[in-house]
Amino acid sequence: MALKPSIEKALNDQIRWEFYSSYLYLSMSSWYESRSLRGFANWEYVQAQEERDHAIKIYQYVISRGGRVKLQPVEAPPFEWKSPLEAFEMALEHEQKVTSLINELVNLAIKEKDHATNNMLQWFVDEQIEEESDAGQIVEQLKMIEKDGGGSGLLYMLDKELATRVYTPLTATTPPASQ
Ligand code: FEO
Repeated sequence: MALKPSIEKALNDQIRWEFYSSYLYLSMSSWYESRSLRGFANWEYVQAQEERDHAIKIYQYVISRGGRVKLQPVEAPPFEWKSPLEAFEMALEHEQKVTSLINELVNLAIKEKDHATNNMLQWFVDEQIEEESDAGQIVEQLKMIEKDGGGSGLLYMLDKELATRVYTPLTATTPPASQ
């Protein structure tokens, strides 16, 4: 069954949001680099790669359903933050926004009785739990560091921890032609 135009449009919009997420986290990564917080930079760099994978997952799904991908302009993300806490609070807020967008997409798929799209979106429903939880935990840790007077020792320890994050490509990102 072909994709309904309303679903195709909403999925194209979500592709743009995922690429924007990638842009936002890459911008954060470059800001951390400029502050010599290389662990934070690594964490956001990995996050940016994962967001690109999210966009590609939807891209491939639209194509597999015989739909048309129309890539849209991606706006420039912010460039400066006052502190790692401010940046992570923005990341958490952004993930909460993405969760609501995914939920709206699920609602649309249910309304249009598009079970395959609903099924594909369930992966994102699960992923968003992790995305919000990861950003939320780091926000809490940064708040504790600020409460303790923002000691650079604690920030350095967190930086070392965030340096260990490793990018794992999504298996679903093999090109449709080779599936
Ligand atoms: Fe793809 Fe962080 O949402």
